[in-house]
Amino acid sequence: MQALWLLSLCYAVAAVAHPVYSSGNLEKRAISEEVFDDFFFYCKYASSADDLYCAYPNGNTLIEEFSNSTTDTQGFIARDDTRREIVVSLRGSTSVEDFAIDSETSLEPYVSPGVVPPPGAMTHTGFLTAWNSVAPGVISVVREQLLEHPGYAIVTTGHSLGGALSSLAGVSMKSNFPVNPVRMYTYGQPRTGNPTYAYFVNDLFGPNAYRFVHAADGVPTEISQAEGYRHHGIEYWQNPDPPSAANTKERAADGEDPTCSDSIPSTGINIDHVFYFGVMVGTPFCTQ
Ligand SMILES: *[C@@H]1O[C@H](CO)[C@@H](O)[C@H](O)[C@H]1NC(C)=O
Repeated sequence: MQALWLLSLCYAVAAVAHPVYSSGNLEKRAISEEVFDDFFFYCKYASSADDLYCAYPNGNTLIEEFSNSTTDTQGFIARDDTRREIVVSLRGSTSVEDFAIDSETSLEPYVSPGVVPPPGAMTHTGFLTAWNSVAPGVISVVREQLLEHPGYAIVTTGHSLGGALSSLAGVSMKSNFPVNPVRMYTYGQPRTGNPTYAYFVNDLFGPNAYRFVHAADGVPTEISQAEGYRHHGIEYWQNPDPPSAANTKERAADGEDPTCSDSIPSTGINIDHVFYFGVMVGTPFCTQ
């Protein structure tokens, strides 16, 4: 009853704050309930990566938790036998090591196991170091899983630093397992690479790269285009609150859109960065 009331409240608010569409701009329409529900679904995996031990990630089977003690990069691999997919979830910034990685913002050539990037592709030094520190292990566990479950899809997901890592992880999965469908769901993801990297992701993923941004979250725009970075597609901007399909718009497919979250000057980590779908990120969804 209460959920129903909340739901109708969401609709009422959405109806009052009627979005203004620029004529003929189809990518700015509100998204479907189905796409919105998927965003919330994969956010629960991202949120659970902050947990020390997640017995049943998002109610599903835990395959392995992984970490590298030097970089302190952590996450888990789960398997969902209903949706028939392997999920790689990467943790956001929680430790001193993580914040050190976040601060290494210089771009360096994109070199990662099994990936053949176009010439000139560059990525954030810290994010690349972090992902590469766990990549060989993650690739080998996913490979074993796919031997037993050959038709399964692969999904990568993460929030904040974990969002940047799940972008790099997504490209690694697509490159190492080109036959399997791969999707990435990122939340509050900072810009991760240069324009060549962004276009590489767009070419590899098309509509299957889902980059969700909550309202005035300042992290996605903190590392600027002026520093040589560019976002890949596709940003889904949920603004204003409350979180709902009606309040979430699909933005430019190529990644950068001055009418998306980039229209708000970045204030870095703020309250909108910490809450996604009304849930404080880090809340575990780890029970059956
Ligand atoms: C952990 O990360 C460090 C630094 O990137 C790397 O040198 C090392 O090989 C990694 N350890 C493992 C077991 O992969």
